[in-house]
Amino acid sequence: MQKIKTISCIGAGYVGGPTMAVIALKNPHIRVNVVDIDPEKIRQWNSENLEELPVYEPGLSEIISEVRNKNLFFFGDINRAIEEAEMIFISVNTPTKTYGVGKGMAADLKYVELCARQIADVATSDKIVVEKSTLPVRTASSIKRILKEQNRGLKFSVLSNPEFLAEGTAIKDLLHADRVLIGGEQSESGNMAIEALADIYASWIPRERILTTNIWSSELSKLTANAFLAQRISSINAISALCEVTEADVDEVAKAVGMDSRIGPKFLKASVGFGGSCFQKDILNLVYLCRHFGLSEAADYWEQVIIMNDYQKTRFAMNMVKSMFNTVSGKKIVLFGWAFKKDTNDSRESAAIYIADKLIEEQAVVHVYDPKVKYERMLQDLIDLQTRTETENKNLLNFEEDPYEAAKDAHAVAIITEWDEFETYDWQRIYKSMKKPAFVFDGRNILDYEALREIGFEVSVIGKRRA
Ligand code: UDX
Ligand code: ADP
Repeated sequence: MQKIKTISCIGAGYVGGPTMAVIALKNPHIRVNVVDIDPEKIRQWNSENLEELPVYEPGLSEIISEVRNKNLFFFGDINRAIEEAEMIFISVNTPTKTYGVGKGMAADLKYVELCARQIADVATSDKIVVEKSTLPVRTASSIKRILKEQNRGLKFSVLSNPEFLAEGTAIKDLLHADRVLIGGEQSESGNMAIEALADIYASWIPRERILTTNIWSSELSKLTANAFLAQRISSINAISALCEVTEADVDEVAKAVGMDSRIGPKFLKASVGFGGSCFQKDILNLVYLCRHFGLSEAADYWEQVIIMNDYQKTRFAMNMVKSMFNTVSGKKIVLFGWAFKKDTNDSRESAAIYIADKLIEEQAVVHVYDPKVKYERMLQDLIDLQTRTETENKNLLNFEEDPYEAAKDAHAVAIITEWDEFETYDWQRIYKSMKKPAFVFDGRNILDYEALREIGFEVSVIGKRRA
């Protein structure tokens, strides 16, 4: 079996960075290169100040300080990274297409294709190419075709190794993975490539949890896993709407349902809607794939998970407007949380973006406080919606560095992300500084709403009967 001495990873983002850090930590004998086209990102990964790392993940900075410049290296020379490694991970972003065929549905593979072309152009020895980004089914075969076009007699094996880490718990998920999935070609060289990659994971993952399949199964499993997880959230969110108009309490329902061992307790937390870079994109991919094969009922079935999620975000924003006497025009509203979940600085597809957009549309004066997300990111998220001009967004979105300052003279506070610190705030103090009646809209159901009502707040909670 081929023993890998050097790995390179193209793409130093939320997936590439933490994954390579853990691979390097657990394989001190392997040199791990991480490259990116964005020089600023590389600078941040190399920064002495660990607060500057481009990805915030609990436990990540400790690993970086242990292995960086020992066997983990961040740099910008992609060609050198390709040359040096026997195994290359592609971990670049694959956003939903914003133009042309498949707009709003299919994944944009231009970054992946560029990587494959660069590998084909630059390589001078055989390579194992691993697709790590979340990709639509059949991407591996496109990569393979591009790599085959080079005429230098080199052999390329393509593997699919989907990432199942969740942001905010990435290091824990990598260290204690439920399973590692490796899809490869059913051939001798395919099997050898699979073994070489399995060997790297076997440094810390028990062999029985390393699952090997054909490439199609591996690629489709990733989309399916995310579709199932998102479906559970949309299911409980649909029930939350019903709870709000009846005597049922969504937490009690989720607990009762989740104690059925056939269903299980996880991913049943009602929320303001799921976000993140994966769920929506992967389901859209699945829908696109079903449509491509003429399976319109299967496509509609999965699309409904997204429709439900959009409904939940709109419903939350509209409930805010309705509760505040049907108008929020000129009212200061503070959003606590911009990240799509706690313990991350990532805001891709966060419900906060859509809720802020709707409130701004209603002429509210929106202020945002988040422990980790920077102002530039928030602003860019709004700009990307293309609802209004950059200057308008700049004027309309107010950034706050202190939650208590943020709440001063506000009519309402809305919890969008479940950051732990929100539970520990002095809500009495916040109440005193706000306009009356003072509203709290808890989109994550994390606060003690009875205590808040006693203080004097008007409280609305996802999945609880409206007062
Ligand atoms: C997800 C998958 O979990 C991971 O395996 C895959 O590799 C990438 O996509 P991630 O998007 O990082 O990971 O976070 P996840 O914890 O799955 O949460 C996604 C969204 O669902 C968040 O907005 C979260 O707040 C929301 N969520 C999650 C709920 O609203 N309720 C829940 O019960 C769980
Ligand atoms: P993910 O969540 O999939 O990791 P990110 O956007 O966080 O997504 O990371 C993807 C990274 O890939 C970005 O830092 C981006 O600059 C980088 N990237 C995109 N295209 C290329 C390319 N052709 N070569 C090198 N890096 C690339």
